[in-house]
Amino acid sequence: MKPKILIIYKSSTGFTQKYAVLLAKRLNCTAVDLKHIKSVSLSDFDTIIFGTRAHANSIDGLKKFRKTLHRYRGTRPDILFVTGAASDAEKEAIDRLWKNNLTIDELAHLPHFYLPAGLCYEKMSFTDKIMMKGLAAMLKSKKDKTKKDFELEKRISSSFDISSEKYIEPIITYISQDK
Ligand SMILES: Cc1cc2nc3c(=O)[nH]c(=O)nc-3n(C[C@H](O)[C@H](O)[C@H](O)COP(=O)(O)O)c2cc1C
Repeated sequence: MKPKILIIYKSSTGFTQKYAVLLAKRLNCTAVDLKHIKSVSLSDFDTIIFGTRAHANSIDGLKKFRKTLHRYRGTRPDILFVTGAASDAEKEAIDRLWKNNLTIDELAHLPHFYLPAGLCYEKMSFTDKIMMKGLAAMLKSKKDKTKKDFELEKRISSSFDISSEKYIEPIITYISQDK
């Protein structure tokens, strides 16, 4: 029998939701907003995929999600995907994200995927806009800026979308091999 998969996502400006919906279509399963998690019976599913965003070098909502999940099964989702403004070429930053946020057990046993997405100032919360303004001001006033600083300054100056359906392929491949 095919495993019953559930995708739970936390999305503030829509990128993670978009990826969750794309994955749900490909995997023929349901994607549910974390806000509505109480309406689903988690114990009915064999595989739980959690999708969220990178937020100031942390994985948004992961700590809380571990606790929620623990009430039903295990302590970690079966698959994790994280969206962000970094491109997939920024291997060091992505690696740091995993090392700083995943436990040793999760690093070894929780399949985790980074999905490039972008930034959307139009849908961003007030607090997030303030945080981005702070980062922009810090970069602007920084002395001896590196090439990376200049690139980041330019990149965060306006909304952009680098999301693509192709980035879900590694997750699809992983699931189809995990039988
Ligand atoms: C305050 C703030 C901090 C962010 N920090 C990071 C980060 O550390 N790394 C990254 O790649 N993207 C970062 N981003 C970009 C978001 O992760 C990206 O826009 C994400 O796809 C948003 O997902 P959502 O649309 O589902 O909310 C940040 C965005 C904001 C607003």
